[in-house]
Amino acid sequence: MNFFNGTATINSDNQLEIGGLSVPELAARFGTPLYVMDEMLIRQNCRLWKQATANYGTVAYAAKAFCTKAMCRLIHQEGLALDVVSGGELATALAADFPAQLIYFNGNNKSAAELRLAIQAQVGRLVVDNFLELEMIEQIAARLKQQVDILLRICPGIEADTHEYIQTGQLDSKFGFTLANGQAMAAVEAALSKRHLRLRGLQYHIGSQIFALDSHAAAAKITVSFMATIYKKFGLTLAELDVGGGLGISYLPDDNPAGVSDLVQTVVHTIRTHCATSGLAFPTLVFEPGRSIVGPAGWAVYRVGARKEIPGVRTYIAVDGGLFDNPRPALYGSQYFAFVANKANDPAEETVTIAGKCCESGDILIKDIALPRLEPGDIIAMPSTGAYQYTMASNYNRFCRPAVVFVNNGEAYTVVKRETIEDLLRNDLIPRAWDKEHLLRAAR
Ligand code: LLP
Repeated sequence: MNFFNGTATINSDNQLEIGGLSVPELAARFGTPLYVMDEMLIRQNCRLWKQATANYGTVAYAAKAFCTKAMCRLIHQEGLALDVVSGGELATALAADFPAQLIYFNGNNKSAAELRLAIQAQVGRLVVDNFLELEMIEQIAARLKQQVDILLRICPGIEADTHEYIQTGQLDSKFGFTLANGQAMAAVEAALSKRHLRLRGLQYHIGSQIFALDSHAAAAKITVSFMATIYKKFGLTLAELDVGGGLGISYLPDDNPAGVSDLVQTVVHTIRTHCATSGLAFPTLVFEPGRSIVGPAGWAVYRVGARKEIPGVRTYIAVDGGLFDNPRPALYGSQYFAFVANKANDPAEETVTIAGKCCESGDILIKDIALPRLEPGDIIAMPSTGAYQYTMASNYNRFCRPAVVFVNNGEAYTVVKRETIEDLLRNDLIPRAWDKEHLLRAAR
């Protein structure tokens, strides 16, 4: 099955085991909800990407999928570069001693403070999204007397086959300089006129969780043809092309995403063919995978609580997580699979709906899944939960974000501590003036 590519297995005690550790025991030791990450599988995925791209360029892990200090450190250990999209992600990487030169800074509305931080830290590439940013970077770089290497984010006008919310390369998109209306060409011209900017190349990203490879090929083709136009107009050969991320992963047993090397080969072949016909040198490529590196390594672990049966309608099984640690089902209608970690090989006995504990009817993690009979205290483990979950978690309903542990070879390391009520209350203030009012009222 799709979910056992890493160290996950079912042991002789009928328990799900990851990194050589029993998931029910991890749940008892660290509490639930808990995110368990298979460290070996993350490393294996990094190596897969590195090998597949070795002759063509760089892999910059998209931190937005899962960004913590330990994760940034692991990415550096594995020899990958890093794609960040905010001052927060950048600060996390720098706090983990990630070399700034290996950082790509994306994002569609970077603030002056974020740009200053990035330029001062001397990140490798700033990926410029719009004209305002181009001006701001030039100004900051001039003041700091620095040269800044940039890529221009273009919007190729390609509609990727994925959820509308995570398409990013279509004409009607907030991201990048639009190719179709001449905006992208104007951006090249503007970039070339700036004294403190060095235009190294282009970047695009067409979307995420994409299974079909034809939209990747279409985006590559249209971008190379734009590079050829740039060459004709300015005699300029752009040496770098960053093709973004987007490779889909399996969330359900029957999902059948393309593999890393399928995607890389498709993109490389397309770019090679079209560069050759246009007389362009093959550029250094940058790939920015997020989900495909970290998604399959994550297991969201919940404890079963209340059960509500509505005969003839549905049986709800409530768990101790939900929308606050995984908003994806509510946001995108994403579907998930689950195992009962303490009865891993038991046959399915009933169809249930796994509900979260947020005060929303839409807080359903899995609708209609056949599982062994569930009792309060049982442990549910949902695979493929390593990407865009912990990073998208919130404190809705004032729940605390779960802890994250890396497991490897019989050891478990906490990489993010469980939030506490103290963490939740830390930033809350009651206006001081109200104290006085209260006193005066009491004095009347
Ligand atoms: N590069 C850029 C510029 C991106 O915007 C993204 C993702 C990536 C790379 C990485 O793409 P990946 O390889 O992970 O597909 N929250 C959504 C996903 C949003 C993706 C945003 N950009 C979800 O939960 O499905």
